[in-house]
Amino acid sequence: MSLHIVVLAAGQGTRMRSSRAKVLHELGGRSLLKHVIDAAQNLNPEKIHVVIGHGSEQVTRCLANENVHWVIQEQQLGTGHAVAQAMPDIEEDDLVLVLYGDVPLIQVETLNTLLEKTTDGSLALLTVVLPDSSGYGRIVRNAAGAVQKIVEHKDACESELEIKEINTGILAAPAAKLKQWLGQLKNSNQQQEYYLTDIIAMAVTDGLEVKTTKPTAIEEVSGINDRTQLVALERYYQYQKAKRLMLQGVTLADPARIDVRGELHVGMDSKIDINCIFEGEVSIGENSKIASNVIIINSKIGDNVEILANTIVDHAVIESECRVGPFARIRPDTILSKGVHIGNFVEVKKTTVGKDSKINHLSYVGDAEIGHSVNIGAGTITCNYDGADKHKTLIGNHVFVGSNTQLVAPVKINDNASIAAGTTVTKNVEGGALAISRVPQKTKSNWQRPSKKK
Ligand code: UD1
Ligand code: MG
Repeated sequence: MSLHIVVLAAGQGTRMRSSRAKVLHELGGRSLLKHVIDAAQNLNPEKIHVVIGHGSEQVTRCLANENVHWVIQEQQLGTGHAVAQAMPDIEEDDLVLVLYGDVPLIQVETLNTLLEKTTDGSLALLTVVLPDSSGYGRIVRNAAGAVQKIVEHKDACESELEIKEINTGILAAPAAKLKQWLGQLKNSNQQQEYYLTDIIAMAVTDGLEVKTTKPTAIEEVSGINDRTQLVALERYYQYQKAKRLMLQGVTLADPARIDVRGELHVGMDSKIDINCIFEGEVSIGENSKIASNVIIINSKIGDNVEILANTIVDHAVIESECRVGPFARIRPDTILSKGVHIGNFVEVKKTTVGKDSKINHLSYVGDAEIGHSVNIGAGTITCNYDGADKHKTLIGNHVFVGSNTQLVAPVKINDNASIAAGTTVTKNVEGGALAISRVPQKTKSNWQRPSKKK
């Protein structure tokens, strides 16, 4: 039996009140549907079929790189009808797992348990017990506890409404039988829809065993219908990420005030203060400190690093022992070698800074290569752009650049050179030399300041 996964995502999502398809709304930085596709991929299926309808063009455009088979359901005639749209591409001896594009946090372990229970002679349902089961399909069992059918809330009688065990919608079944049952569905119910859930009673009639299993946490099967449910699930998801970090030896100032929108790996004894955002792939070494309001995107941070408050690091590498910020902006393709200090209001772009070099105040350094043990004074600007092209600034080892210097690229400053404060460097500077370009100072004694005319 090879595994085919059918993901239902054709519904309108009216309650999101959005021009964006519901399954494209994001949780933890990934669309709801992407979460489901990723979980599905982890099961190594033969194929993933995603049934789309409302906003289908938007969905296929946004997820164009996914290795899935898009199936269009022109009219949303019910969950049974939706699954049926994918069946022509599924062989009789395959196994079918049904997932939902708006149920993003389903876990691979839970699905594996469900699949283990599914054979030629059985189908498996994922159910949960809820204190308030209103709105959901009820799992109807006989006196011996065997599942007999699922009754939708709108079609349920009084005693059925009392049932607390509900259908999550997620199920697995052998394809041959499923095809047969889907062909027999009728829409003679309150909603005049072809209910997938009606196949349960058919399976019982055909003598198949209906097995059930439960998820580890209820949130795994929570569906998103509106933005309040989306934010509730986002907070749950973030807390799970925060908890994992803490159990791995990371101190968080407040697990409710960290947002991880991607994968974050942090070494032991590192500390993260409040209101930090991590996007994409971020790794932080051991014993590092991230102060409040820091944003780190797709970057690698070493051990014993200190990132001070309100700093943004984007697609950069910060090696061990560095100190960066507060209010620093480290832009893409920057490498800060071991022991570098970057201070407040410093912007660094596409630049390699050598070991133990310092750029401590109010500077812009872009398209530069800086050696080790260099000091860049306050207000230094690399003039890297001539209006058409970018040019490089090369700075050797042990160079001293005085404050308020402009380095007009392309330009090279060799080892041990010094640049006097206020210099505009337009020519290469030889090793060990001093470059100075200042208008000589004049001093006028007893200077009368202009005063306003009466
Ligand atoms: C369904 C189940 C119910 C279960 C509940 C769990 C049925 C008949 N009922 O009810 O037992 O307790 O989910 O949330 O299956 N969809 C399509 N095409 C369609 C119809 C639906 O793709 O024609 C998709 C929707 O986008 C949605 C999902 O299927 O993601 C569920 O559909 P919905 O109409 O919300 O079913 P419920 O009434 O919630
Ligand atoms: Mg629903």
